[in-house]
Amino acid sequence: MDKFKITGGTPLSGELPVNGSKNSALPALAACLLTDEHVILRRVPQVKDLETMQSLLIHTGARVSHEDGRICVHAASLDNPEAPYDVVKTMRASSLVLGPLVARTGRARVSMPGGCAIGARPINMHVSALEQLGATIEQAHGYVEAQAPDGLRGGTVHFDRITVTGTEDVLMAAVLARGETVIRNAAREPEVKDLADLLVKMGAQIKGAGSSIIRVQGVERLHGAEHTIIPDRIEAGTFLLAAAITKGDVTITGCNPEHVAALTVKMQQAGAEVEEMGSDALRVRCSHRPKAVDVTTEEYPGFATDLQAQYMAWMTLARGISFVTETIFENRFMHTQELARMGANIRIEGRQAIVAGENELTGAQVIASDLRASASLVLAAMIAKGESTIDRVYHMDRGYEGIEQKLAAVGAQIERTQ
Ligand code: EPZ
Repeated sequence: MDKFKITGGTPLSGELPVNGSKNSALPALAACLLTDEHVILRRVPQVKDLETMQSLLIHTGARVSHEDGRICVHAASLDNPEAPYDVVKTMRASSLVLGPLVARTGRARVSMPGGCAIGARPINMHVSALEQLGATIEQAHGYVEAQAPDGLRGGTVHFDRITVTGTEDVLMAAVLARGETVIRNAAREPEVKDLADLLVKMGAQIKGAGSSIIRVQGVERLHGAEHTIIPDRIEAGTFLLAAAITKGDVTITGCNPEHVAALTVKMQQAGAEVEEMGSDALRVRCSHRPKAVDVTTEEYPGFATDLQAQYMAWMTLARGISFVTETIFENRFMHTQELARMGANIRIEGRQAIVAGENELTGAQVIASDLRASASLVLAAMIAKGESTIDRVYHMDRGYEGIEQKLAAVGAQIERTQ
């Protein structure tokens, strides 16, 4: 099982390029199931979750090929509209094929994802949204079995709480439903807007994507398209914090500054210099300990839950005590015990972590528990005195392409070992 060996103390400097968004490429690949024509996607990151999604598409009957950095999906006929447990258990975002499979074939059998390290993560809202569009759904033996033999019909979906992949799932179902669908309390994440942009290129009629009310006029069929995935805002945010925590000077290229605005505002309040360098780059400099600044995670455009662990690592150095409140997931503080092994002083009270600052972290052996927690440990190890090893870095490989090469290229002392 791969590990990272990191020696702390080197400020990062230079340029860090950002890949395409994992959380945009996942629904985009699922959307390819909605047409029998070719769909070509550019800037899909080569990470484990995307490989899993591609093998899932092949399992349903689609053909997937790669040519000069592009992925081509051809779902000419889907003779096996299902997402089996052994795939879904490794990646819960597999539930994103539920909507497209029902819309395209009239049926779907998708394993329920089960929980993960950060929470129970049910898909009840996905299921009830599809029922609003006329699907009949049974849940048995750990599977969701959806039927819509006469196709889906438009309807009104009102999410009790905001769900990103729930919004994406029902959006992909609605584009082929008869009549109009209105999705209320929709997620406003950039990845939802990117999915809608792809669907519109494929012939869908969608208004309001990126806002909390999305209107869809169903169409008979969708056609092929080509699309470039938006930059990964969580990778960009992770790199911004890596530069700040190591007291470096780094330019993050190929990103969308708007998509990380909630983070950059907090970083500036904490004393980092963050400036936009044109429309797709950010330069971050920080030569001192940050000021303690509280954050509360919220749905977009609020502070991203996927950056909470990385931000907390930075706050362990801060001048003062900071309060980090996690409102999206019920168990997203797994990284705190590992940060404590490096000397951090963090107390958890329900949904709030109280982070004492002024720490001098020391290198230690730690274990990654989930994708973003592993990023938090890498950041901490880069400023800890001495050497750290981070075990179970397969978590990181799910969402960060070539992370150790990228960080080493700007000065980090990091290597992958067995
Ligand atoms: C997406 O997960 C992202 N994943 C997550 O990123 C991200 O943390 C999350 O949105 C929040 O921004 C992808 O886009 C592939 P939700 P998703 O549905 O859609 C509850 C990463 O690190 N809920 O918005 O699964 C749920 O348990 C990953 O890249 C229900 O109760 O999240 C959570 O508490 C981690 N029932 C809240 O809603 C449902 O049917 C928000 O979850 C669906 C969700």
